[in-house]
Amino acid sequence: MSIFDNAFDPRRDVALVTGAGNGIGRAIAQALVGEGVRTVFADVSAERVADAVGSLSRPELASAWTGDLAKREECDRLLEHARSAFRRITHFVHSAAPPRREKDHSLAVTDDTWDQMRAVNVDAGFHLARELARELIAAREPGSFLMLTSLHAAAPRNLPHYSTSKAALAMLVKELAKTLGRFDIRVNALVPGAIAAGGFVADPSLTKHIPLGRLGKSEDLAPMALSVLSDRLSAYVTGASFVVDGGLSLTNWFDPPNLDDF
Ligand SMILES: NC(=O)c1ccc[n+]([C@@H]2O[C@H](COP(=O)([O-])OP(=O)(O)OC[C@H]3O[C@@H](n4cnc5c(N)ncnc54)[C@H](O)[C@@H]3O)[C@@H](O)[C@H]2O)c1
Repeated sequence: MSIFDNAFDPRRDVALVTGAGNGIGRAIAQALVGEGVRTVFADVSAERVADAVGSLSRPELASAWTGDLAKREECDRLLEHARSAFRRITHFVHSAAPPRREKDHSLAVTDDTWDQMRAVNVDAGFHLARELARELIAAREPGSFLMLTSLHAAAPRNLPHYSTSKAALAMLVKELAKTLGRFDIRVNALVPGAIAAGGFVADPSLTKHIPLGRLGKSEDLAPMALSVLSDRLSAYVTGASFVVDGGLSLTNWFDPPNLDDF
């Protein structure tokens, strides 16, 4: 048998993906359904969720939910929905994030934009992960969580609300991994590079900084996401960050070597 066989157990594994209406979250949620995993698609946009679920070849494995995860009561409503749809969530992916707008630099970003970014990334990520972990611990079941962080958890982006939220989320991954490991609940981070998805408008000139020579696609993230989520492929992996960026993070003030004589 190949080590890639049976990465998931469709009888047991059930996923909840936030931000599943678009971009990376949508690609991961659809890939999970492709593996036969029952999956809650959660997003603030009803239209996007309906489209994401509607384009599945096995829509019966998906359950759509719409609400604003910046609000605590909506997070609780999502947890209730997940319980009644599928009883228990074993795999959690937190990909929802408000749009990033270049105009929101340090001197311009409003309190509301700051609060919304933190509320969705950090507060919802923590609350949902902790409640799902509590349910798994009570049931003595293992679990696997994946948070979408960013290269800008460590490098400025001219968007202080975004970079600080992602830095907090990156530390949350480590805190949760350290506490939940004893219960066989793994928590990891997926770190995308420049992905032409929807959350930010990619400047095509960025490609000159990417060793693999192109912007990423949402579908570039799904195979790594599923590998890390899989209890079979990544049973001994927790508290780790997986960078999927075509080499973008290798960029610094040195250009690549001149290979004219090679
Ligand atoms: N695209 C990139 O280049 C990139 C780079 C680094 C990190 N990331 C991270 O990856 C994740 C996905 O990025 P993307 O580009 O696919 O984003 P996207 O904007 O295409 O998708 C995000 C989804 O989250 C939903 N959402 C926004 N606010 C919400 C709320 N309050 N409640 C519920 N849902 C909400 C949106 O409706 C959208 O469908 C994000 O966390 C982002 O920060 C993306």
